[in-house]
Amino acid sequence: MTKPLGTPLSPSATRVMLLGSGELGKEVLIALQRLGVETIAVDRYDNAPGQQVAHRSHTLAMTDPAQLRAVIEAERPDLVVPEIEAIATPLLQELEAAGVVRVVPNARAARLTMDREGIRRLAAETLGLPTSPYAFADTLDELQAAIDAGIGYPCMVKPVMSSSGKGQSKVDGPGDVKAAWDYAQAGGRVGAGRVIVEGFIDFDYEITLLTVRAQGAAASVATHFCAPIGHVQVHGDYVESWQPCAMAPLALQRAQEVAAAVTGALGGDGGFGLYGVELFVKGEQVWFSEVSPRPHDTGLVTLVTQWQNEFELHARAILGLPVDTALRSAGASAVIYGGIEAKDIVFDGVAEALAVPGTELRLFGKPESFVRRRMGVALAHAADTDTARVNAKTAAGRVKPRKPADPTR
Ligand SMILES: Nc1ncnc2c1ncn2[C@@H]1O[C@H](COP(=O)(O)OP(=O)(O)OP(=O)(O)O)[C@@H](O)[C@H]1O
Ligand SMILES: [Mg+2]
Repeated sequence: MTKPLGTPLSPSATRVMLLGSGELGKEVLIALQRLGVETIAVDRYDNAPGQQVAHRSHTLAMTDPAQLRAVIEAERPDLVVPEIEAIATPLLQELEAAGVVRVVPNARAARLTMDREGIRRLAAETLGLPTSPYAFADTLDELQAAIDAGIGYPCMVKPVMSSSGKGQSKVDGPGDVKAAWDYAQAGGRVGAGRVIVEGFIDFDYEITLLTVRAQGAAASVATHFCAPIGHVQVHGDYVESWQPCAMAPLALQRAQEVAAAVTGALGGDGGFGLYGVELFVKGEQVWFSEVSPRPHDTGLVTLVTQWQNEFELHARAILGLPVDTALRSAGASAVIYGGIEAKDIVFDGVAEALAVPGTELRLFGKPESFVRRRMGVALAHAADTDTARVNAKTAAGRVKPRKPADPTR
């Protein structure tokens, strides 16, 4: 940004609007607050985590172009920062083209990455990056034909518009195809529709390579990499992550080349910000899986492992400021799920959790818990990632969400 940082709640303020204000947005908002930025948190429900720390908040359907236009025109932020995929991105493209807003990293990247087809075709067909074999299908018959024509078994079926593993399943043989199709139809963000079918990659491990595009010398863009983050996914949702993840040197080099190529293509001439590049690794082989043009859930670990965590890196990069991706310590994160369906839950065991050496907690403050909703995360730094993983999981396991006591007592 060419404008100097100013004073929040005054005419000199730099104003940033987050579209989506969950646990990741909350940390971005905190990082921005620390630089004296005026922050506006938007989400689809009241009291979302980020709304609790922003100067102002709005609750609306971000997939509705009319509602989204109204809030942007009313607030006139200097920057609009998408934190989730489910946004009316064509409207962002329109407003960006008209010069009404600047979108982070840009509206095209937000649009391409909300749809598995857009980003997969860019990575595999335009850039020639290694990916799983894939095809798209609009009907059960087309899905079966694509599998028979070469994708084969096992394979993964996913709605083209979905995240956190929703509507996604593994197909081991012909008997699973119909169930996978039906599950994808029920689990897509926009209801029934197109699916991607991907050949199953038998990887040794998977990583997120956090990649930052920031202001370089003169008018150039500099690309910085964080140390790779290893993670474990269950039902397409992350349950633990650690940093650094040990990798063969050639695999790391290839991972960085893939990340530079895909973030470069999304970012274009600018595209400042942090991206989470998801990669599968087997020996020295690397496959591109997908990319988020924003902080990544597995990157929560950087809250205890880097001098500048992924949220601070994003904040600094989007404001045109220098970044430093240096590692500070080995560490790990472990997710705390709600485990129950209830509102206004309380957390037992917090003191016991924090008695584990080198640990921290983030309790997100979500107003309602579901069994598989992420309500918090335990973080641990340690001399090595093995110790950190054990400590993070131990701490997470000691936190016990439960229903609140009878409020009349
Ligand atoms: N082709 C594949 N081969 C092997 N495993 C896969 C494949 N596709 C997905 N997976 C597994 O499923 C996980 C989730 O897949 P993916 O990242 O595509 O889904 P998602 O819904 O976008 O999840 P998220 O939003 O949490 O990143 C991957 O991290 C990986 O563990
Ligand atoms: Mg993913």
